[in-house]
Parts: sequence; C-alpha cells; structure tokens
Amino acid sequence: MAFGGGKVILLGEHSVVYGRPALAAGLTRGVEATARVAEADALRIEPWGLDVSPDPQADQPLARAFHALLAPYGASRQAVAIDATVDLPSAAGLGCSAALGVAVAGAVDQALGIERDAEGRAGAALTWERVFHGNPSGIDTAVSAQGGVIVYRKGEPIERVHPRAPLRLVVAHSGEQSTTKEMVEMVARQHEKATERLDKTFDAIAAIVRNARLAIEAGDLRALGQLMDLNQALLNSLLVSTARIEELCTAALEAGALGAKLTGAGGGGCVIALVDTDASAEHVLRALEQMDAEVFEVEAGA
Ligand code: MEV
Repeated sequence: MAFGGGKVILLGEHSVVYGRPALAAGLTRGVEATARVAEADALRIEPWGLDVSPDPQADQPLARAFHALLAPYGASRQAVAIDATVDLPSAAGLGCSAALGVAVAGAVDQALGIERDAEGRAGAALTWERVFHGNPSGIDTAVSAQGGVIVYRKGEPIERVHPRAPLRLVVAHSGEQSTTKEMVEMVARQHEKATERLDKTFDAIAAIVRNARLAIEAGDLRALGQLMDLNQALLNSLLVSTARIEELCTAALEAGALGAKLTGAGGGGCVIALVDTDASAEHVLRALEQMDAEVFEVEAGA
C-alpha cells in the first residue's frame, strides 16, 4: 500500500510560487493506493466511484494526469491497475490532488518493483500535479510525500522543522470550492500588472514565514498565531480571501483561537485556526460548527 498525505500550508501560500519560503505540514488523512500488474492501465478512485484510463487528449484532467504520471516509466513497462481511496475533501486547499498523485506514484513503483525515496516520489507526482495547475511550486507534492513540518522553497532541498509544542489546528471547510489553477492565475495577473507592489507583499510574507519558523521551534504559539493573522491580512490584500473565510477567521479568533487564516490557494476551501488547549479547541470547533462549517481537529505534521 502507498500513501499520499494531505497537507496544510501554515504560512506562505502563493508567495511560494514566486520563490519565497513557505511552511507546510502533513496530515494523517490522505490517499491510500494499491497497484497490481494488469492487462491494461486503469485507475479506480473511491469513494468517488471513478474509473480513469490514461489519455493525454481527454477532457477529464484525471485521465491526462494519469497519462503524464505513467509516461516517464517508459513504453516497455507492464500495465498497472490501481485502486485509490481518498479521505480528503477535494478543492478545499488540503492538497487532495497532490496526495492522489503521490499515492498513485508510490503504488505504481511498488507494482513495478521500483525503489524511490520520498523526494523522488514527490517529483513523479509533480508531473501529475502540473495537469491540474499549470505552475505548481511543488510544495503540495513535497509535503504530501515527506510529511512532518517543512520549510519549502522552490528548487531547494526541504528543511525539516521540529515544533517545540504540538501544532493543534481546527480545520473548517468554508463550503466554497475553489480551483488552485484559477487562484494562482489570478495572482499571476496581479503580479504582471503591479509587480513591485506584489513583490513587496511576497517579501513581507517571507519575513512572516521566517519568524513563524522561529516561533514554532521555540514553542511560542501566541507569536505563531499573530503571524498567521498577519499572513491572512496579506492574503486578503491579494484578493484570495472571501467574505465567508473572513467570517470564519473572525469567529475562530472570537472563540479563543490564537490565530486563523485560509490554507492553500484560497477563494474558498479551508480555514485553519491555531488552538493550544482542549477547552479552546472545543470552543473554536463549536463556534465554527454553528456557522455550518464542516470542522475537524488535527495535529499538524504529527
Ligand atoms: C496551493 O496549495 C499552494 C499555492 O501556493 C500554489 C503552489 O504553491 O503551487 C497557492
């Protein structure tokens, strides 16, 4: 069995596409996949009930992604049938497509007897991820394959971060779906029009990420929470937040969260709220549930 983990971006989404560092953490929820040698290539995805065949010309992105992932294995390889089970909401900022790519690559490797480390698997999954969004920084596949808490910077080896205190997060789904591709393209259009202003915003986010790393390593969750709020304000200035996300963040903070922000591409998807005690976790969970959000608690990077 191969696993691709879901992820949360703690800080630094979007600016990471422009070469700035970002902090991300793996989730224990994700995608499991098994593969066996078969007559023809096939991918079954549950609980979606989807049967996918690799096809570079298909309208369905999953068929194109499956083809892109298999192509580097070469024409002389044996065919593989893969069963994948997804335990993550899609289009929610929790790295579902990257987790699927990492799990499928891992399962294909196992069926064909190929040994590859986590970095290699992340690289293989990046060809899959490129189909879904044209310009991925690589952070989603890296953290999906590696797990833990990492600092990611495009083109550089990942740096592992060791939290001094558990990073307890309440995750709330806004109920709004968004596509990473569209959000990344929207920020790219802004960057084209107002390069200097956006570069300044990205630099400010990079400084927040550096300080957040120190806060995580020192176990200073209050400081981390404040930095998450600052990051959220800057993400809002990039127009990737929504009224619903802002409401959820405010409700989480009022209920005692130390910080709250969107995670992933924004435009909908999930909000993460940092909590430090059972009581605050309970309050925040209840407050967000009352706003009709689907909520769950995770320890980031555990
Ligand atoms: C998506 O999870 C994170 C973004 O920064 C895009 C990327 O890094 O590829 C929005």
